[in-house]
Amino acid sequence: MKTRQWLLNDHPRGRPLEDGDLRLVTVTLPDPAPGQMLLRTRWLGFDPAQKGWMENVSDYVAPMAIGDVMRGTAITEVVASNGGLHPVGTLLSGLTGWTEYLLHDGQGLDVVPEGVAPGAMLSILGLTGMTAWCGLFKVGKPVAGDTVIVSGAAGATGSVVGQLAKIAGCTVIGIAGGAEKCAWLTEVAGYDHAIDYKAGNVRDQLKAAAPRGADIVYDNVGGPILDDMLGRIATGARVVVCGGISRYETGGLPAGPSNYFNLVFRRARMEGFIVLDWADEFPAIRNRLRALIDAGRLSWQEDVQHGFENAPATLQRLFVGANRGKQLLALD
Ligand SMILES: NC(=O)c1ccc[n+]([C@@H]2O[C@H](COP(=O)([O-])OP(=O)(O)OC[C@H]3O[C@@H](n4cnc5c(N)ncnc54)[C@H](OP(=O)(O)O)[C@@H]3O)[C@@H](O)[C@H]2O)c1
Repeated sequence: MKTRQWLLNDHPRGRPLEDGDLRLVTVTLPDPAPGQMLLRTRWLGFDPAQKGWMENVSDYVAPMAIGDVMRGTAITEVVASNGGLHPVGTLLSGLTGWTEYLLHDGQGLDVVPEGVAPGAMLSILGLTGMTAWCGLFKVGKPVAGDTVIVSGAAGATGSVVGQLAKIAGCTVIGIAGGAEKCAWLTEVAGYDHAIDYKAGNVRDQLKAAAPRGADIVYDNVGGPILDDMLGRIATGARVVVCGGISRYETGGLPAGPSNYFNLVFRRARMEGFIVLDWADEFPAIRNRLRALIDAGRLSWQEDVQHGFENAPATLQRLFVGANRGKQLLALD
């Protein structure tokens, strides 16, 4: 059995992603050994953290070496089994990487539950939904009446955070790039206010939208937008550090916030998190998100590109804001 795979070819440290960072190869897989299944990748899911994994900037995941299959989440289908864990036809989700086919014993992969669309399992019911839920409820701890500011608000994670905060009884302000994304936030996702950071002067717009200040800041972006949000925190605020995608413009780690001293004046707390720390709770959180979806209380967008050969270009879409919601790639 031949399969194409994308392999890491260079560590993109201190610079944007480039075409040569990954290389496409064709390799031959042996027949499944006893206990193994042959999995066919049906969809890939994309996350800005993948660039960080390619760079090896963090230690919460194993380092990636040149020549490794690109790490990433996927939905795979069991197409053959040699006494493996799941029958042929089962859909599985997990970190199986950028390969069209692979051999696996099934350990660490989740069965896509009955009635759940595969795309949802990679987005709102996958790590994206878990990140939104855990960052907001476990770190931000919203109370009805709070004002919440979300950066990267129209993205896969941010759009869920805002809707969950609305359900928790908060006033929600989103910051996103462009008029179209801002219109989606207020018209579909139910945000109370949307601020287009590309139109300039986020600080003044935040002042107008949150005159009393923000009780929770949920930051996906870092950089100058985080500084502007820190300038608007209310006394006792919780600043949730989820991601820092703006750092990829300049490379390296994000610059520290220059406005951090407002944490002292406002007796505020700033806390980062890694969603995987709550993995034991994911099934229960997934059930709660499913109940909200079934009740028609949560919307989400999936941006589906096509063709395995387009995987690197699809990853790059996240860093220029081309994606509309969760970035996926279908292997047709
Ligand atoms: N802590 C954790 O455990 C954890 C887990 C998963 C994800 N995350 C983080 O969560 C964040 C969101 O991930 P996602 O998968 O939901 O991606 P996403 O928000 O769907 O996509 C990334 C978005 O970032 C925005 N962006 C890109 N460059 C920017 C810049 N220079 N300044 C401001 N905004 C910029 C773009 O939106 P605009 O068009 O609005 O600019 C783009 O659409 C990421 O930082 C990710 O690493 C953290």
